[in-house]
Amino acid sequence: MLSRRTLLKTLSLTPLARATAARAWPLRPSVLDGGARESLRTLAARRGVVFGSAAGSYQLGDSEFAAVLGREAGILVPEYELKRNLIEPSPGHYDFSGCETLVKFARNFGMGVRGHTLVWHASNPAWLPDAVQSRRDSSLMTDYIGTVMARFKNNIHSWDVVNEAIAPGDGRKDGLRNSFWLEAFGPAFIDDAFHAARAADPVAQLVYNDWGCEAGAPDNDRFRAATLSFLEQALARGVPIDALGLQGHLAAFGAKVDQTKLARFLDDVKAIGLRILVTEHDVDDTGGPSAADERDRAVADASRRFLDVVLANRATVAVLSWGLSDRFLHSPGLRQRLSGYSPRMLPLDAELNRKPMWHALAQSFAQA
Ligand code: G3I
Repeated sequence: MLSRRTLLKTLSLTPLARATAARAWPLRPSVLDGGARESLRTLAARRGVVFGSAAGSYQLGDSEFAAVLGREAGILVPEYELKRNLIEPSPGHYDFSGCETLVKFARNFGMGVRGHTLVWHASNPAWLPDAVQSRRDSSLMTDYIGTVMARFKNNIHSWDVVNEAIAPGDGRKDGLRNSFWLEAFGPAFIDDAFHAARAADPVAQLVYNDWGCEAGAPDNDRFRAATLSFLEQALARGVPIDALGLQGHLAAFGAKVDQTKLARFLDDVKAIGLRILVTEHDVDDTGGPSAADERDRAVADASRRFLDVVLANRATVAVLSWGLSDRFLHSPGLRQRLSGYSPRMLPLDAELNRKPMWHALAQSFAQA
């Protein structure tokens, strides 16, 4: 955890801001940097949107980064510390420590926190799939939802109740992903998860989160159609879904965002009464030129193409990047490290400088 002294030293606040900060805790971004510099947090807020980032509690020990995170982000999402493999490593044994560190940090900076994720086919403890398939007892899912949501009640902006349950490539007519959840409980596991979440918290924003709607390929067309059909039918059954989470993992040198198809899809999502969140935005820069400035430009262009469309839709309420700085991105492999490649997928570089992607986000917020 950051001490106030460390934070003030790190930020070398102006005398006025220092005096204010010494009195008022939590600090606010405008106090942190004397209000002189806009941040993605302030630019997004002016548009009525909250901007934030994924983070891991280990990153908060980097005081220079933590101070910048506190300035730029208005909301956090645990990148992996609210997933079941970390939360319930063995049946009935819960470890909330990593997530609670993030929640405390967010509270100190007046930030929201997203809950990611309650029901997913991945990042589960090894014992869970076996238990689900042998016992076929849906309380293995619904009790977990109730326990975790109760622990963080009134601290979570929105919950990714179910993550990545749609995969038309799996060949099902309903477009759902073949998973141990579906195999054990049928498609109704999604409805049951959302009803359990609503029962656990009558006011929380409940989100269905997935990826694949951004580009214009036939696979993306199938994903958009399957997602819209799933959402329409679920809402017609009375399933309490409040919003669609678009992960927003893009490729700088791969398939481009199809702005026309994406805009039409988002209009359809808004028309059925759902809010929209961008939940995991980053831009993979592999496959392009080696020059960092060329990669940075392509990353920024991809981000801008995507966010201009998403922010044009009034149902959009949040944009989170999947990390704030390249500092914590681990280069994929030795070969790429030897080639000097290190990922440049996020708004700030490893030295916490604002990259073209930061400016692309800022311009998207400013012009929305
Ligand atoms: O557990 C260690 C921890 O002890 C250590 O301090 C920390 C820092 O080195 O690393 C932790 O390890 C791994 C962590 O990533 C590091 O970031 C976890 O074991 C590993 O499971 C975790 O992987 C995450 C993955 O989901 C699975 O949960 C990735 O960070 C995360 O980026 C990725 O995110 C997913 C979204 O949840 C869903 N959408 C796709 C997205 C990208 O795959």
